Amino acid sequence: MDKKIKIAPSILSADFANLKDDIKKVEDAGAEWLHIDVMDGNFVPNLTIGPVVVKRIRPYSKLFFDVHLMINRPDKYWQVFKDSGADLITFHCEVNVNKKKLIKDIKSSGLKAGITIRPKTPLTKVLPYLPYADLILVMTVEPGFGGQKFKGNMVSRIRKVRDIIEKDKLECDLQVDGGINVQTGVEVVKAGANVLVAGNSIFANGDPQENIKELRKAVESAV
Ligand code: DX5
Ligand code: ZN
Repeated sequence: MDKKIKIAPSILSADFANLKDDIKKVEDAGAEWLHIDVMDGNFVPNLTIGPVVVKRIRPYSKLFFDVHLMINRPDKYWQVFKDSGADLITFHCEVNVNKKKLIKDIKSSGLKAGITIRPKTPLTKVLPYLPYADLILVMTVEPGFGGQKFKGNMVSRIRKVRDIIEKDKLECDLQVDGGINVQTGVEVVKAGANVLVAGNSIFANGDPQENIKELRKAVESAV
């Protein structure tokens, strides 16, 4: 496993009135990815960012745009996010679409494809897609809102997924999302995660640049 941990600040917790500045801050502080949470008010009980926002911020950042689709019809909408500047499209294994085909379509367009799972969904629902996906995202909160408490019982799930990735020699990033801070970041990295999404712990308290540096220091000394 590549020991380099990637940090993906979630703009859901950024200041939307100063989005450009917040993105620049985290980019300058060395974040590798930018996590963009898309919600449809249907798959999850919240509405957030659409493709027009992604398109507007794209020229201001070189970060890898990691688009997390919490929507019922990722098959219908992923292309408009590609056209707006997404680098990775992650969709939920709970949606009722042809998931193998969707991964294939996203990848053959030149983007990376990820698949994700809600905490309450049995892990077996996502495992069949691991050999095809570029990334698996293990949700550590119920998707829908930033600032929720990390679900500690997901640590064993992360470890299980890491074991499968290693055993089957899969080329798959293992991302976690929800309640990640210095303490939980260390826990999940020890369990095998290599991409950390963090919203509140980066943007909601103190200086985003200091927060990224602290998170980086903590997780890198943990591996
Ligand atoms: C929740 C989103 C997360 C959220 C994480 O549904 O998928 O990406 O922004 O925020 P924190 O880090 O505050 O839990
Ligand atoms: Zn997310």
